[in-house]
Amino acid sequence: MSGLIPQHFIDDLIARVDIVEVMGNRIQLKKAGKEFKSVCPFHDDSNPSLTISPVKGFYHCFSCGAHGTAVGFLMNYEHLSFVEAIESLASNLGIEIPYEKNQQPIKKNNNLFDLLERIQAHYQLELKNDEPAIEYLKNRGITGKIAKRFNVGYAPSGWRNIMDSFGKSSTEIEKLTTLGLVIPKDNNNHYDRFRERIMFPIRDNRGRFIGFGGRILNQDQPKYLNSPETPLFHKGRELYGLYECQQALRKIERLVVVEGYMDVISLAQHGIDYAVASMGTATTDDHFNRLFRLTDYIYFCFDGDQAGLDAAWRALNNALKHIREGRQIKFVFLPENDDPDTFIKKNSAAIFEKELDNGKDLSDFLIDKLTKDIDIKSIDGRARLAEQAKPLISVIPEGIFKELIIDKLSQSVGLSSKKLTSLITEHKNKSLKIAAEQKQRIFNQKIIKNKKEKTSITKKAITLILNYPSIGREAKLNLIEKNNEPGTEILRKLIQTIQKKPDINTAGLIEFWRNDSEGKFLGQLASKELPKNDEFNAQAEMNDCLIQLNKSYIKTRITSLIDKQRNEDLSSDERKELNELINSRKS
Ligand code: GTP
Ligand code: MN
Repeated sequence: MSGLIPQHFIDDLIARVDIVEVMGNRIQLKKAGKEFKSVCPFHDDSNPSLTISPVKGFYHCFSCGAHGTAVGFLMNYEHLSFVEAIESLASNLGIEIPYEKNQQPIKKNNNLFDLLERIQAHYQLELKNDEPAIEYLKNRGITGKIAKRFNVGYAPSGWRNIMDSFGKSSTEIEKLTTLGLVIPKDNNNHYDRFRERIMFPIRDNRGRFIGFGGRILNQDQPKYLNSPETPLFHKGRELYGLYECQQALRKIERLVVVEGYMDVISLAQHGIDYAVASMGTATTDDHFNRLFRLTDYIYFCFDGDQAGLDAAWRALNNALKHIREGRQIKFVFLPENDDPDTFIKKNSAAIFEKELDNGKDLSDFLIDKLTKDIDIKSIDGRARLAEQAKPLISVIPEGIFKELIIDKLSQSVGLSSKKLTSLITEHKNKSLKIAAEQKQRIFNQKIIKNKKEKTSITKKAITLILNYPSIGREAKLNLIEKNNEPGTEILRKLIQTIQKKPDINTAGLIEFWRNDSEGKFLGQLASKELPKNDEFNAQAEMNDCLIQLNKSYIKTRITSLIDKQRNEDLSSDERKELNELINSRKS
């Protein structure tokens, strides 16, 4: 549990969230009775092994064992933190999170956010006072208006500007160091990281300032300097310009990914408000998840040189597993020696947009690249092609798009798509077969083990209560008051939670134990299949379990008291207890 967001809000949100909607927006679901089925996105599969139960608010994959609530799904599928998953669900439902004030973790980072906010304002002010820096931006065609929209600033020359203005105490210096704005040197001294650089502040998706990119004014190296990884700034997650783009546009139709800060700003200067830049890294899964959350249409437009081509190919590789029906990924190759900035200056926004429209589909780029240096007339060449295509195509999720690529590829190779598919799947099958054999072995071992240690009554009771939380309302807690065998503690807590919050559902119960080692075990039990016939009465089964647990408690307690009696005298309380226990068994 996070501490940043009030627990009651999390409980309420989990109760309101429709897991089918959350998952259905991201993977293809098929209705199957009261439940939904899907191909599991967490392992390589073509069967619908994943079951989603809207009533339980829970998903479970019978093949790889992945399971969880809508929150857990978002965390795993979109690589979000718990808090981010909650934030994403809340924003989809259009509800505001009542963040708790005065909480330690958020307060700590809040200080850092505040400091960065003040420093970026400081850099902006410095820009106003620096003629050469203003001149530089003017020469690059950037107006004051656009510079302001992107909060462009300037870090003047000198080694102690930030230190003198913001490093007044050791705590402040520590914060500056954490943010990478000053760098420690010998004798407890520090110096400014950014000097004589145009400063591009980087904002997170809530608009908070988290870091900077700085471009040198002269010819020195390095041309660009970024903030290092800090508690606030993770290069692999952030996209420069995404926040500004969301501010500028009410509806994002498409997004174009470029390489540089100046590309984003220059495009905005010409009215293209939907460009973002990955800051010198390849496009990561986190990036794709963020982008595809906003639009289905993504364009990559990199520099028209070899480095740009290589970057595009890397982007394609990382994009493959994010391909879904309805999503479109295109690659735009600019003339050599141009980047989006220089291209749009030489031409116009309309011509740039035409380039986007004429971009190469991911499938064509993939095929062109694969067939480029291969003699597809020779058998050897075809084999090599299949060999190279194999690892790429096998990561594309099953679906029309994958079939389309195989079709296209087969046409250009002059093989039937059946033959090509078999070439591609041959190797995959081999590795799948090995994996399947191993799985079977583990499965067999499990069956043997399960037979040995018959599922315990406690486990059964927990499974029942997780599947039908409402039966907890009437459960007789006093029957298991004193049991202390494994699992009874959590069973008591489950019943108590339900009696306090009678409308809590399975997902809510599980989220309650998220940070507990037991949480995992609860998830497994929640996803167990229970009989679905009419005679099955969960309430009665539950009562029966509690009665049995009570009996087993009485039995163990009697045995232990009698054992004790053999060696020493029982206290009067113990004697009384023993008598009562023996009597209760008779009734
Ligand atoms: P301009 O020369 O200002 O037009 O820059 P550009 O945007 O055309 O830069 P370039 O294509 O050289 O680089 C694209 C992006 O790569 C930049 O925006 C930076 O994020 C990153 N980059 C470029 N040079 C460096 C460097 O020297 N160090 C680091 N860390 N990143 C760089
Ligand atoms: Mn450039």
